[in-house]
Amino acid sequence: MTENKDLAPQATAKKYFVKTYGCQMNVYDSERIGDALEAEGYVATAEMADADLVLLNTCHIREKAAEKVYSDIGRIKKLKQARAELGKSMTIGVTGCVAQAEGAEIIKRAPVVDLVAGPQTYHKLPELVAKAVRGEKAVETEFEIENKFAKMPAATRAQTRSRGVTAFVTVQEGCDKFCTFCVVPYTRGSETSRSVGQIVDEAKRLADAGVREITLLGQNVNAWHGLGPNDREWGLGELLYKLAEIDGIERLRYMTSHPIDMDEGLIAAHGDLDCLMPYLHLPVQAGSDKILKAMNRHHTRDDYLYLMERMREVRPDIAISGDFIVGFPGETEADFEDTLSLIREVKYASAFSFKYSPRPGTPGAGMADQVPNDVAGERLQRLQALLNEQQLTFNKNCLDQEMDVLLEKPGRREGQLIARSPWLQSVIVDQSTGPIGDIVKVRITEAAPNSLVAVKV
Ligand code: SAH
Ligand code: SF4
Ligand code: F3S
Repeated sequence: MTENKDLAPQATAKKYFVKTYGCQMNVYDSERIGDALEAEGYVATAEMADADLVLLNTCHIREKAAEKVYSDIGRIKKLKQARAELGKSMTIGVTGCVAQAEGAEIIKRAPVVDLVAGPQTYHKLPELVAKAVRGEKAVETEFEIENKFAKMPAATRAQTRSRGVTAFVTVQEGCDKFCTFCVVPYTRGSETSRSVGQIVDEAKRLADAGVREITLLGQNVNAWHGLGPNDREWGLGELLYKLAEIDGIERLRYMTSHPIDMDEGLIAAHGDLDCLMPYLHLPVQAGSDKILKAMNRHHTRDDYLYLMERMREVRPDIAISGDFIVGFPGETEADFEDTLSLIREVKYASAFSFKYSPRPGTPGAGMADQVPNDVAGERLQRLQALLNEQQLTFNKNCLDQEMDVLLEKPGRREGQLIARSPWLQSVIVDQSTGPIGDIVKVRITEAAPNSLVAVKV
């Protein structure tokens, strides 16, 4: 090792900071963006004020998420001014779904922004960053036909740096479903899948780097249909069998799924594969057929309940998680109660729930019968009370049970580790339980709404 080679560039290297908003896909993208910048000689910094390049990897899903970006830009502008007084520059970029949705408008509204790059343009980031650093505004929101990841540096280093023994792998992106409330089809473009080869390579590299659990990501991950060997199309079920064979990968998960893409091959994988964790995130959004139709979800309440039955047939211990929207246009009290009754039937282990947020350009925003904010707020409270109760019940049912947990990372308190249960619960154990990365059998001794406590068996 020559010291010069390792140290000299570090001393003068430009520093970058990426702030991530929104979903896991953005978390994954931010890691890949980090890899791409590091390949250009940038190094990561934990202090935004210290960064020559700040990227905000943004989310457009609800109004609050999108507006947060602008208040953050206001704050970053002050950091930039402070740096200017010291004779240092700061280049500010917006990537992600707000970049795609608003494009050059962002620079009009916030002229301090130098760069805007939509989610399907990240393979061009080195070029765009160089342009912005030169002082020219750089805006790129084209949807590329080629898969951006194929053109970006490989994913191992940055991901394992921050994720440790668990990692995300995006396998599918974009959406063709056009739910009437949702911006994703407009911000991420149409459904595309990465190839079996790319995904398997990445999973192997992650396994070699110490990753034990992989979560496959996609806006509609179960719509994944990648080209496999012999140019044959595979479905997600088949991909899971293939990934299960990789040495070192002990656990597999996938999210987020759409009910209409749960095919028999995928359902069967849940029955066959021990390493496929008994947990399924399957958003339903609403329990009334009228609202499901208005949302353009392509399935009925009964279709969803039947699917739940099938899943529990092949995997009786499966935990179900979901997403819900309250206050969609036209939702009456009776429609809302249909959502509550569906929740009571399914019994969720966990869930995310949101007040409907009208999004520019989506059909929902123009619909008659928008639900008043206070009505939606009151419904959301009732819905969340029920879901919280179910989550606590699910956790309490684990008391005194034995289960295998993956030791994931140091806990908040000295001497503790955080482990992951098969059902994605956080389990607090003593650090003497074993080294991070091990899977150990524990017995649950305490159950709270958001975590469990366990001892080694
Ligand atoms: N592709 C996934 C989810 C994508 S967005 C799916 O099809 O389920 C994540 C969640 O955000 C959605 O499931 C939905 O519950 C919520 N969401 C999306 N658009 C929204 C909006 N306009 N207002 C409120 N919640 C929204
Ligand atoms: Fe949005 Fe619907 Fe597509 Fe999910 S399936 S990303 S909710 S349009
Ligand atoms: Fe947000 Fe885009 Fe993800 S809108 S939820 S960051 S796909």
